[in-house]
Amino acid sequence: MTTTILSSLSLFPATPEQVIESRRRTAIAWGKDMTLEEYLHRDDVSDTQEHARDGKLITWVLAPRDDPTSLNFVSSCETFRREGLVWRRPPPPPDGEDSVPMPERVTCYGIASVFTPPSLRGNGYAAHMMRLLHWVLAETSWLPKVFSEEWGTPPARVAHAGDGWFSALWSDIGRDFYKRCGPTMDQEGWIVRSPASTVWNVSAEILLSEADPTNWTWLDEAGVLELWEKDADNVAHTLGLPDNYRVSLTFLPNKGVAAFQHQRNIHILNRLVPPIQYWGIMAKHDSQDAILDTFATWSFEVRLPGLKTLIITRLRSRPESFKSLMSTVMAVAKQQGMERVEVYSLPDELQSVAASMGGITFEREEHLPAFKWYGAEKSSEVAWLLNEKFCWC
Ligand SMILES: CC(C)(COP(=O)(O)OP(=O)(O)OC[C@H]1O[C@@H](n2cnc3c(N)ncnc32)[C@H](O)[C@@H]1OP(=O)(O)O)[C@@H](O)C(=O)NCCC(=O)NCCS
Repeated sequence: MTTTILSSLSLFPATPEQVIESRRRTAIAWGKDMTLEEYLHRDDVSDTQEHARDGKLITWVLAPRDDPTSLNFVSSCETFRREGLVWRRPPPPPDGEDSVPMPERVTCYGIASVFTPPSLRGNGYAAHMMRLLHWVLAETSWLPKVFSEEWGTPPARVAHAGDGWFSALWSDIGRDFYKRCGPTMDQEGWIVRSPASTVWNVSAEILLSEADPTNWTWLDEAGVLELWEKDADNVAHTLGLPDNYRVSLTFLPNKGVAAFQHQRNIHILNRLVPPIQYWGIMAKHDSQDAILDTFATWSFEVRLPGLKTLIITRLRSRPESFKSLMSTVMAVAKQQGMERVEVYSLPDELQSVAASMGGITFEREEHLPAFKWYGAEKSSEVAWLLNEKFCWC
């Protein structure tokens, strides 16, 4: 593709008609087990939910500069504005004592549904769209000073976007494509970080025999929403900046972010037998405590292909509580007819207990978490905390 053609395109927030066209297109990739009407309806419902409403969800199109509302746009994607926390190591003070970094509440973005129609693929459109995306999401003062001349003028900043400290996506096309998509041709884009999963086979009797439902407070929809609110507060107190890093960051689970993991497919999950009653458990003693220290929340992956899976969306546990927690989660999975239980990025201190219960940890080949930090620090100096399923989109 010639540079002239790239410079004739730019990134625009989609018109309502372009949003529908983009969804019609992506149905072939992500709506295979639904009719087009069901797929469009699911997104209509999703638009009204907390993770998306009030301008948090923007569909973007790469379209001709001279016809930005055209339905013949060449590529599209979605961004979700969210809240996150960031800890940064300040420069050492003159007396040499390191101060403890305080968390800052920041704007950040989840990115999803990157799509180019089959007939237009291989022309560099998606890569160009992703490069331009930094220019509408990132905190302006952190963007490179110069926009590549061969791309024409930068995309216009729009309401509800911008001020971003970091963004993340979950790549289903490997590590390289998004890494190449930086804000300039010589800067890196999204870097894959720790795509680890731990899975248990639900038939592991060792676990089922230890399940004790009476140890737990069972969380229905209202219960998990309340837990994620409290968890979002707790995160500021319980996490920090690990040694050897200059920055650490995390998405927060409240404001619809973790709820998206089950609300998105609720029309399918509602068909499970028995009907799903609970989306999480927390240790009974936690109900009174200021800091929640033992809980799991979950969703279910039942769309084909793939094994039916109870996927843990957010987890916190001490090693001594973990076996009891997982045994109960396993019993839930069995009751709902799931074949396995999966958790992303299980903390190191829980790995040996997990293995003793038959859990196997491996590097996933799909949904690879990848982040772009917009500050001056290098990606190798940035720790992604709570790199769990709850923030996937
Ligand atoms: C991925 C996709 C958006 C790329 O769009 P595009 O406009 O053709 O992208 P570009 O022309 O900028 O880049 C093409 C490059 O993307 C990479 N790529 C595309 N599909 C890939 C895949 N399935 N696995 C790995 N890399 C892939 C390759 O490096 C390819 O280069 P090549 O053509 O030399 O092999 C498009 O193929 C698509 O819509 N696929 C279906 C939906 C999807 O998988 N989206 C990504 C979800 S994370």
